[in-house]
Amino acid sequence: MQEIANLQAKNAEEAEALRIKYLSKKGEITQLMNDFRSVPAELKKEVGMRINELKTLAYDKINALKESAGTAASSGETSQDLTRTPYPITLGSRHPLTIVKNEIVDIFSRLGFTLAEGPEVEDDWHVYSSLNFADDHPARDMQDTFFVESHPDIILRSHTSSVQSRVMEKNQPPIRILCPGRVYRNEAVSARAHCFFHQIEGLYIDKNVSFTDLKQVLLLFAQELFGPDTKIRLRPSYFPFTEPSAEMDVSCTICGGKGCSMCKGSGWLEILGCGMVDPAVLEANGIDSSVYTGYAFGMGIERITNLKYQVKDLRMFSENDVRFLDEFTSAR
Ligand code: DAH
Repeated sequence: MQEIANLQAKNAEEAEALRIKYLSKKGEITQLMNDFRSVPAELKKEVGMRINELKTLAYDKINALKESAGTAASSGETSQDLTRTPYPITLGSRHPLTIVKNEIVDIFSRLGFTLAEGPEVEDDWHVYSSLNFADDHPARDMQDTFFVESHPDIILRSHTSSVQSRVMEKNQPPIRILCPGRVYRNEAVSARAHCFFHQIEGLYIDKNVSFTDLKQVLLLFAQELFGPDTKIRLRPSYFPFTEPSAEMDVSCTICGGKGCSMCKGSGWLEILGCGMVDPAVLEANGIDSSVYTGYAFGMGIERITNLKYQVKDLRMFSENDVRFLDEFTSAR
C-alpha cells in the first residue's frame, strides 16, 4: 500500500510505465488477482478486500500522476513551484520631475491651494496681453516664443502664468490655485537650457491679501521642501504682471549658507519669482482691483529638482535613460 501511495512520475511516459507495471494484464496487481484462487477459503474475504483496496488506490494514484504530468506538459513546464516569489522584482519608478512636482503640490495643498490647468497651445492674450506685457515686450520676441507660422496669435505658452489669466476670467475671488505644467521656449538645447521645461505657478486673490502673507507662505514652503533650517531672501525684481515683484533665494541646500561651488560662494540659491498681482492684471481679467488684492509666484521644476538631486545636465530629464530613472526608485 505504502509503495503505491509514494509513486512518483516526472512526465506522462513515466506514469504510463507505472500503469503497465502494476495494472496491465501482466501487472503486479493483476497478478495478485490471478493468484487469488490459491488463497485458503478462510482468508479469501480478508485478502480479497485488501487486493481491491490496493487496485483502487493504484488506479487513482496513477490517474492523478497522469493528469498532473499532462497539465505541466501543456503549459510548457515541468516541476516548477508556482507559489515561489518571482525574483528579482524590477520596480518602475516615478520620473524625478514628477516626484518633485508632487512634493510641491502636496505642500501647497496643505495650505488650501487647489490644482488648475490650462492649454499648452495658447493665444497671445492669455500668455502676454492679459498679464500686462507691453506689445513690444522682449519676451514676445521670436527668440523666446514658439509661434504657429500661419496663426501668429497662436503660440506655445512660455510660462504657466497664462493659467492665472484662464482662471481669473472664469472665477471671482477667493482664488487659491496651483498650476503645474510644461512650458516652451525657443532656446538651443544644452546642459543648461532646453526648449521645453516645467513650471509651477501659484495664485492667491482675496480681500486684504498682503506681501506679508506671500512671504510667510514662501518661507513655510521652502522649509517644508528643503528642511526646517532653510532661510529665504527676497530681492526686488521686475515682472510685468506683479507690482512689487521679487525673486526668492533659499540658503544653499549643500553648504547651508557658508558658500560652496553650488552657490558660487554666495550661500544663496535663486528658486522662484513672485510678487503682488498688478491691479492692471486683475482689471484685465475681470476682477475689481479696488476690492481685491493677490499674490503670485512661479518656479521651474527642473531647477528645484537639480537642487534636490544635483542633476547636472537638463537633457537627462527627457532622454528616458533607464539607468538615470532607476536612481529614483527609492525616492518618494
Ligand atoms: N512667469 C515667470 C517666468 O516664467 C515666473 C513668475 C514670476 C511667475 C513671478 C509669477 C510671478 O507668478 O509672480 O519667468
